Amino acid sequence: MDPSQITNYLPGDSIAGFLPLAQSGSFWLPPSGSTTASAVDWLFYFLFYVAAFFFLLIVTLMTIFILKYRVRPGRDAPEPSPSHNTWLELTWSVIPTMIIIFIFAVGFAGYMDMRTPPPNAYEIRVTGQKWKWFFTYPTGYVDENLHVPVDRPIRLVMTSRDVIHSLFIPAFRLKMDLVPGRYTSTWFQAIQPGEYDLLCAEYCGDNHSSMLAKVIVHRPGEFEKWLEEASNFMKNLSPVEAGRILYQRQGCAQCHSIDGSAKVGPTFLGLYGSAVKLADGSSVTADENYLRESILVPDAKVVAGFRPQMPPYQGLLDEDKIAALIEFIKSLKSDQSAGGHN
Ligand code: CUA
Repeated sequence: MDPSQITNYLPGDSIAGFLPLAQSGSFWLPPSGSTTASAVDWLFYFLFYVAAFFFLLIVTLMTIFILKYRVRPGRDAPEPSPSHNTWLELTWSVIPTMIIIFIFAVGFAGYMDMRTPPPNAYEIRVTGQKWKWFFTYPTGYVDENLHVPVDRPIRLVMTSRDVIHSLFIPAFRLKMDLVPGRYTSTWFQAIQPGEYDLLCAEYCGDNHSSMLAKVIVHRPGEFEKWLEEASNFMKNLSPVEAGRILYQRQGCAQCHSIDGSAKVGPTFLGLYGSAVKLADGSSVTADENYLRESILVPDAKVVAGFRPQMPPYQGLLDEDKIAALIEFIKSLKSDQSAGGHN
């Protein structure tokens, strides 16, 4: 496979510039991209217009009464007014009660639809981790973005590796928490091919605001093709190229730059072969074994100046992937390290 096909899906690139709906929406709301979105929108607008109607009614009457019954010369005592009117009180109790029961009934029906996945749903596992999304497909392939076929119910089975995250897809009107130590699930059916935003909606630490992904809704027949090609990227690329993709997809890029700048973790630029100062005052040479250990058990050797907050990748990466990541890191030579200093 042509490696450029894979890099098409790296963050920041758009594969859906030609799909107008994904960018459209109304003044109030993002586009309705799922089968349940229109029911949510209908109720949203109903609540909005009911609230607007009563706001205008109350403010208008209040203004009229303020003017009509204001204090004027020769009229300094309040007008006599009835203290009680049974019909008026029944009306303003019964009508709002009926409106509220109606809102509950419509909302409950929509909620049950959104909580009950159709039995033939396609399952994708979702894992949240500071500060990255992992989407695992039935082939075992893991992607950083959520790829789905159009017009097919998708069930997401979700959990977190650390703290509570919340998967939020505004265009699908979908939000569900990911909780460590248990599974939560939700489902949707996309109705329009395109690219949509996916966010974390639960404050989860330093880089919460960059815990972003894309939902890519494929045209009929294209999802299977994409999954087949994406699942085989390790076979079709050189270790350095595969490592670059793993660097993006496995969440390394969230915390480790490749341009020399420090983020939550140290940069990868010029790391290989350099002398790394550790938090306990000792120093170690960044060779293959150090890199491997730092990927699998990050807390074993914490770099001076950084907090031990990287999740361990033990059991999550096979040896081929670890080797590809190490080859990628080795390829990132800074001017200094390329000049032969170790
Ligand atoms: Cu994950 Cu906020």
